This record gives sequence, C-alpha cells and structure tokens, in this order.
Amino acid sequence: MICARGVAKVYENGNQALQDINLKITAGELVYVLGASGAGKTTLLKLLLGMEKPTAGGLEVAGISLVKPQAKDIRHLRRLTGAVFQDFKLIPGRTALENVALSLRVLGVPWSENRQKSMAALAEVGLTDKAGNLVQTLSWGERQRVALARAVVREPRLLLADEPTGNLDAASVGFVADVLARAGDKGITRVVATHDSRLLERLQGRVLVLKQGCLQEVAGNGWEQTACGDKGGE
Ligand SMILES: Nc1ncnc2c1ncn2[C@@H]1O[C@H](COP(=O)(O)OP(=O)(O)O)[C@@H](O)[C@H]1O
Ligand SMILES: [Mg+2]
Repeated sequence: MICARGVAKVYENGNQALQDINLKITAGELVYVLGASGAGKTTLLKLLLGMEKPTAGGLEVAGISLVKPQAKDIRHLRRLTGAVFQDFKLIPGRTALENVALSLRVLGVPWSENRQKSMAALAEVGLTDKAGNLVQTLSWGERQRVALARAVVREPRLLLADEPTGNLDAASVGFVADVLARAGDKGITRVVATHDSRLLERLQGRVLVLKQGCLQEVAGNGWEQTACGDKGGE
C-alpha cells in the first residue's frame, strides 16, 4: 500500500523535516508513528496524502507515485484516503451530522443511506447525542471525533490520522481505538501519528519512531532498525 525509498523532505526555507525514509506498509496494517514535536510526523502524513512532495527519493501510495504526481493522481489518491489532521477542517455553521454526511454526499450517496451511515459513524465515536449540534459549539475533543467519523464513514482504503487523541479523555481514547480496530476489520490501512501511550495500550500496532526526521522501527523489546539505514521495514 505504501512504499518509500530514500525519501527526504526539505522545506523551502531549508528545514530538513525528513531524511532517508525507507518504509513499506502493507494493506490492512496499523502503523503508529511516534516522535517528539518537530520530529517530522505531520510532514510524513502530508507526503502520504500528496499535500507535500518529497525532495528526494521514491514514494508510492496505492500504486500512485507521489514524486511528480499529476492533479488527477492526487484526486484519485484523495478518493482512496480518509485523513484527520490537527486542524480538523470542519465546516462551521453545519452540524456534526452534516459535516460527516458531506463526505458521502460528494460521492453521490443518497440521503437516506448517507444519514444512516453517518449516524453510525458518529455512534462509533460516541457522539450520537451531539449529531444535531453545530460543530463550533462542540468541545475540541468532540470536534476531533467528528473529524475522525468523517474520515472513516467513506470506508477509505487508507486512513491517515495526525494525533487523533491529542485532546481526549480516557473514554474517548477508547472510542478512537475502537474505530481504528473496526477500520482494520474492513481491511483499511491505518497510519496514525501519536505520542499517546493510552492508544497503543488499547490497540496494538506496528510502531515506528521518528527522531529528527529519521525513522526507526521498534520490534519486540528492542530497536530493530537504525536511523537512516538503507533497509526498508517490511
Ligand atoms: N511548512 C513548513 N515550512 C518549513 N518548515 C516546516 C514546515 N512544516 C514543518 N516544518 C518543519 O519541519 C520539521 C518537522 O515538522 P512536523 O512534520 O510538523 O513535525 P511533528 O508533526 O512531528 O511535530 C520541524 O522542524 C518543522 O519546523
Ligand atoms: Mg505534527
């Protein structure tokens, strides 16, 4: 599903966010990307969504090369992908239900089916009773869960989540873990940037660590891969 070979990202101002990233993620996997603030987690997710381009190396997601992608490739990738970033990008003035339903409406799903699926997605994140509330009246953590519901309701092939439990209490972390687990049952590949040990305790996954833009893989009890090595993780 995801294959990176020697990927680097240097921003225009000279910031090196990622270096020599070698990574293979197979369909259906759950991969956690851990790392301190500034380690490059968000940048990695943005590369996987085609929001930023690598400045070196090769990167393929769902068979689409993201080194010099055409606009139609990016559109194709976006249709396959559900993403939750830290700014959520919910539409103010609309309810939680309307925000989630928009994700299916653009795919032409009829309203009765859309409503049922969107309510089910909101139920999965524990927000049934907030479905009719305007998103700007919801707490930060509730908005975060609406954004997750919106990302999964379409049953994408790839789910990218950037710190999806950052503002959540223990009960809500449980909802997020359940959503990620159920997405796995549907064969959805999941890449989750987080430093929330509560999430890792609730749901096991493969753990990668970014350190100053270099990727390490944690396997079993120790470090299996060294930073900036030339061997791809399987
Ligand atoms: N748009 C940008 N322009 C320049 N530098 C950036 C940009 N976005 C992120 N960076 C830099 O890239 C590095 C990695 O950032 P980021 O991917 O946001 O890390 P994380 O999500 O792990 O906190 C940081 O040094 C950050 O300052
Ligand atoms: Mg980040």
